[in-house]
Amino acid sequence: MIIIRKMIESDLAEVKTLSVEESQTKYVGTTSEILQHSSDTNHFHVIQKNKSIIGFFIIDTAYHQQYSFVQERELGLRAFLIDKSLQGNGLGKQAVMTLIPYLKSAYKEWTSITLTVNCQNPGAYKCYLAGGFTDTGELYKEGPAGPQYIMRMDLK
Ligand SMILES: CC(C)(COP(=O)(O)OP(=O)(O)OC[C@H]1O[C@@H](n2cnc3c(N)ncnc32)[C@H](O)[C@@H]1OP(=O)(O)O)[C@@H](O)C(=O)NCCC(=O)NCCS
Repeated sequence: MIIIRKMIESDLAEVKTLSVEESQTKYVGTTSEILQHSSDTNHFHVIQKNKSIIGFFIIDTAYHQQYSFVQERELGLRAFLIDKSLQGNGLGKQAVMTLIPYLKSAYKEWTSITLTVNCQNPGAYKCYLAGGFTDTGELYKEGPAGPQYIMRMDLK
């Protein structure tokens, strides 16, 4: 069973063991780079299966300050990853599906969540689509690794 929850300090050592393939770091960075993005508005989360932490993501409550496509009262999903040893088993999709009930309860004041995903990253794109996100049809073209699809999921 997949659980998503806020990261706590005692998770740190286990989170540091998570990694993605080197070819995937252009999409999310390395775990140690991601962990440097700690701030009041970047809420670190872990994805847990049974008792093990298998993935990570950030809920960004200041995403609208960075991107003009972000709507009012819209969260940002960033740095979503499943450890490389466990990818391709449907866990990413399950984790995204778990997001809706979690966010509806933990982020009640927010109406939707959005993200960008690189056009060269079909695994992530399919994962988000299967988990409930919709492709807005718009592209974000200013990313360092090429154009990105803008996806959104309603939370109301
Ligand atoms: C993206 C990521 C989280 C997906 O997690 P995952 O557990 O590997 O994904 P799933 O096994 O749930 O697969 C979801 C779908 O993507 C498909 N998929 C997975 N890898 C794929 C690939 N390389 N090419 C095409 N489709 C792929 C699966 O077949 C599945 O589709 P289906 O539902 O039609 O069968 C994971 O691959 C990852 O951590 N990647 C590196 C970090 C990253 O790119 N994050 C996204 C940043 S926007």
